Amino acid sequence: MSGTGRLIVLEGLDGAGTTTQTKRLVAYLVAHGTPAHATREPSDGPIGRLIREMLTGGHGLPQGAIAQSTFGLLFAADRLDHAQREVEPALAEGIAVVSDRWYHSSLAYQGTGADRDWIVQLNARARRPDVTVFLEVRPEVAAARRVAAGRVQELFEDLRMQEEVAEGYRATNAELAALGERIETIDGELSPDEVFAAILGAIS
Ligand SMILES: Nc1ncnc2c1ncn2[C@@H]1O[C@H](COP(=O)(O)OP(=O)(O)O)[C@@H](O)[C@H]1O
Ligand SMILES: [Mg+2]
Repeated sequence: MSGTGRLIVLEGLDGAGTTTQTKRLVAYLVAHGTPAHATREPSDGPIGRLIREMLTGGHGLPQGAIAQSTFGLLFAADRLDHAQREVEPALAEGIAVVSDRWYHSSLAYQGTGADRDWIVQLNARARRPDVTVFLEVRPEVAAARRVAAGRVQELFEDLRMQEEVAEGYRATNAELAALGERIETIDGELSPDEVFAAILGAIS
């Protein structure tokens, strides 16, 4: 037992590189003697699996059939479940947790309109990360990476929507930083090695 582990969050647009860098960071921490656990949101729990199915159109409904407010509730429910079942127990054992997305995503994706205060309320019980790394990538660069990776377009992934999400992140990051949250913005358009080096520098 070595006290409470740190919660490190990686955020960014779809294609920003959060999954790539989450894996690298956990591998690095473990290799350097810091127990660490990689996780993601939507989580791999029952609510997270439901959300993933909904994002890829697995429900068979037309695009836009499910309201953003419904997603807001589901993401918040998944976050509570993820925290209670997976994140908090690891932190309590002194394990660092690196999460590919956290409540910043809810604020940036669902919290850009009239529902903002409500989305903030829904996430009020989620633990504040010790540090959040925001991988800043232009929406068109993120889109080109998704295409190059041969990804099927998910809900929220068209370019106009991603531009709105980018604006949502700008507002969210500024608001959370003003509340004292540690948010490190990194140029995500550099090479994976350069991005990783910048992350290590930012979280040390
Ligand atoms: N720094 C980078 N430069 C160029 N391509 C990258 C970089 N980081 C990740 N990629 C590639 O972009 C795609 C999306 O990366 P990924 O880590 O899955 O992003 P995210 O999880 O943020 O959607 C993948 O094909 C990945 O190999
Ligand atoms: Mg990813």
